[in-house]
Amino acid sequence: MGRVIGIDLGTTTTLVAYCDRSSKTPRIIANRSGGSFTPSVVRFGERGEILIGVDALNSRTLDPLNTVSSAKRLMGRYYSEITDTLDLLPYSVIPGTEGESIISIRGELLSPEKIGSLILTDLVQTASSLIAEDVDSVIVGVPAYFTQRQRDATRRAVEIAGYTLGRLIIEPVAASLYYNWNVRAFDRTSVVIDLGGGTFDVTVLGYGPNVNEVLAVNGDRLLGGNDFDERLVELVTEKIRRQHGHEIDKRDPVLQQRLLDACISAKCELSEQPSAIVSLPYCIGRDGRVYDFSVEVTLTEFDSVCEELFERLRNPILQALVDAKISSEGIHSVMFVGSATRMKRVQNLVRGIFPSARFRIANPGEAVALGAAVQAGIIEGSLDDYVHIDAIPFGIGIEDEFGRTSEIICPNTTVPVSKCVWITNAISNTTTLEVHVLQGSAEMAIDNISLARIVLDGVQPVPRGVGIFRIDVDVNVNSEISVTLSEESSRLSKTISIAT
Ligand SMILES: Nc1ncnc2c1ncn2[C@@H]1O[C@H](COP(=O)(O)OP(=O)(O)OP(=O)(O)O)[C@@H](O)[C@H]1O
Ligand SMILES: [Mg+2]
Repeated sequence: MGRVIGIDLGTTTTLVAYCDRSSKTPRIIANRSGGSFTPSVVRFGERGEILIGVDALNSRTLDPLNTVSSAKRLMGRYYSEITDTLDLLPYSVIPGTEGESIISIRGELLSPEKIGSLILTDLVQTASSLIAEDVDSVIVGVPAYFTQRQRDATRRAVEIAGYTLGRLIIEPVAASLYYNWNVRAFDRTSVVIDLGGGTFDVTVLGYGPNVNEVLAVNGDRLLGGNDFDERLVELVTEKIRRQHGHEIDKRDPVLQQRLLDACISAKCELSEQPSAIVSLPYCIGRDGRVYDFSVEVTLTEFDSVCEELFERLRNPILQALVDAKISSEGIHSVMFVGSATRMKRVQNLVRGIFPSARFRIANPGEAVALGAAVQAGIIEGSLDDYVHIDAIPFGIGIEDEFGRTSEIICPNTTVPVSKCVWITNAISNTTTLEVHVLQGSAEMAIDNISLARIVLDGVQPVPRGVGIFRIDVDVNVNSEISVTLSEESSRLSKTISIAT
């Protein structure tokens, strides 16, 4: 049998790990360049060649329009949902026929999950040759706040790559599996703070012996390290304007990419030191002349322009505590996940919320992949003393005849779960019954995400309120939803699976 490997398919970086059987230890598998972190970047060359990872990142300033990064931000999301992200993406994104987000490169249309699959294939093939074993299936992390559509898109990326999906694992749960394994400690309650490139997740976990259970999840799907980059780009553009009297050309994609890269490096330096220099040598101005720009940015200036972003971390953390019905004093440990948690202001803000907790910051960038490898070890049987339980982060309900949401499964319910409810016919003598299944807990159905409409044809024509129909909702460990609508007085029933 082939191996099971763990993958953190991140917005910015992707990591692969496996569980070493002899030492019972999760380990990162290096990419072709020998590094742990592979940029989630794909560049499409003029002659049809495809560069992935480090090669694509290193050469993207040469060809930003044909280099795709941050595709995870687009996966499973409608074009209308991502318009505020578009400014950050130098390549072209257009709405597809169903309103989905489609990447357009050299006239070719690519789904964001196709980009994910190219990264997966490349990394899994390299991993397979490095560990000298075939890879059977993959465990892939997804942010806790991913919707069903986003999870489905991740699943499709694995399918397109031609691998079997062992399971999707919630990223902070994976990270906590790793930290548990690492410190051999099972605090009764933990909060996982995951600030990555494109998403922010907070997860409250409760532990029993060797078991961790998701008590609540919260987050912000539009907050990540990329947003801090954007603020720094604005600050540096303004400084160049003031100090050099020069306007950086916003319509020059190569220059914008160079500026962004220089700002990302400066941001990382500011996690270690009080100031950093952003240099942009040999810039060609609109007048054709060559300019060298160099400005200093202090940590105080950076923190000040990002203050609103830092503050946006607070509410999801407090809300997760409310949902888990735990006060901040009741949290024993806080785990940092995602490389953007290296920013000192992030750590200080979180320490302020949890003054008495223990902090785990050992390996924020690698924790998800290593945790997915712990899960792989559990599946392969080499770490069978570790178990964990997931929760579904959103509510599932149906629309009632007044357009309101009638909740069947509430958010943060532990999965697997099965619930059933009974409904009646709102229209007299109808032979068709339609049920609209919703994701979300907003009071009005229209404010939630529409998951599916089940139509049962050939039902008994009876007066309003006389028919009895049963709705069964099942959610399995992969958060795949199945809904069955059946008529009590006959054997008529219909089932739909919402995850493909
Ligand atoms: N030393 C550092 N200081 C501050 N930010 C950093 C540092 N190192 C990396 N980052 C930032 O962390 C982000 C990437 O984090 P990470 O690799 O954990 O994200 P990801 O897993 O790709 O994203 P996501 O979890 O949202 O899908 C980037 O925005 C990167 O610039
Ligand atoms: Mg991540």
